[in-house]
Amino acid sequence: MMKKELLVIENLTVRYGQVEILKNINLIVHSQEILCIVGESGCGKSTLLSSISGLLDSGATIASGEIYFDERELTKVSQEELRQLRGRRMGVVFQNPGTSLNPIRKIGSQFLEAIRSHYPISTNEGNERILKMLEKLSLRDGKRILQSYPFELSGGMNQRIAIALAMIMEPDLLLADEPTSALDVTVQAQVIKEMLKLRDTFSTSIILVTHSMGIVAQMADQVGVMYSGEIVEYGSKANVLRSPLHPYTKALINAVPSLVGSIPQGIPGSPPSFGVERRGCSFAERCTLRESKCFSQKPKLREIRKGHWSACWRY
Ligand SMILES: Nc1ncnc2c1ncn2[C@@H]1O[C@H](COP(=O)(O)OP(=O)(O)OP(=O)(O)O)[C@@H](O)[C@H]1O
Ligand SMILES: [Mg+2]
Repeated sequence: MMKKELLVIENLTVRYGQVEILKNINLIVHSQEILCIVGESGCGKSTLLSSISGLLDSGATIASGEIYFDERELTKVSQEELRQLRGRRMGVVFQNPGTSLNPIRKIGSQFLEAIRSHYPISTNEGNERILKMLEKLSLRDGKRILQSYPFELSGGMNQRIAIALAMIMEPDLLLADEPTSALDVTVQAQVIKEMLKLRDTFSTSIILVTHSMGIVAQMADQVGVMYSGEIVEYGSKANVLRSPLHPYTKALINAVPSLVGSIPQGIPGSPPSFGVERRGCSFAERCTLRESKCFSQKPKLREIRKGHWSACWRY
């Protein structure tokens, strides 16, 4: 059976001021699917998530394109409608957990408010539900946590609380921006397990931004590789990790420290600055396989094998 398309992004272009940051992004996320987004710092991963959740910075504009969530076109709906969608149907875990939590209010009341903005619930019932969720994310001292302010807890705890807050409404889509980067490996494993369980239990789709290929290997169904505001490769985890097509993806995978002792190569050079017009491929300067064509013509994202897309002239 074909799974339902929950999120469809078509030709999305986003600018900060005059500078184009996201360029013509196309993506589909099916229900129950986990899409991992990878790419170097500054390539636009957080901007992509904020475009979907309607939480772009005030200086940013959606210059063109559409975002369909369950067939509703999000770039046209009101702020109030977006606010209703967030929380209830779309959970957001921000890259900086400080953004998710109000520093001057106790954790318990923040959770209750989040739930009550969608339906009425008694304090006892609410707390019970919150404690269960905290426990799932290895936050055992739940009663104390509910009575605490964020500053009284460690960064790793706040990170998990932010994840719990995004998951408590059992959303259809979870947008998680580096949700486990501040956690030690044991807790990270627990959080990954809970996100997978959320998907299995409530058919939640997840878009997960991560720098860790290990997390991609554990969690992804599909993988999107971003470079300089574009998707340069997209496909199933097996295809992208085992037989990457784009030289940038290969370089990213080689940049990961491996357990067998080979020294990570890193990717020589740095990404191009945004706002500079270029005719060719944005990775050409750093690419070891470039040809003259790569500097003069831009390769489009094309389906090279079934379900496996790449933007490179070599294919
Ligand atoms: N509020 C803003 N105003 C202007 N430019 C911004 C703003 N926010 C981000 N940018 C720029 O947009 C580009 C993409 O940023 P973004 O935060 O989306 O990248 P990222 O892939 O999430 O990076 P990281 O891995 O470091 O989190 C960067 O060049 C950044 O400098
Ligand atoms: Mg980011």
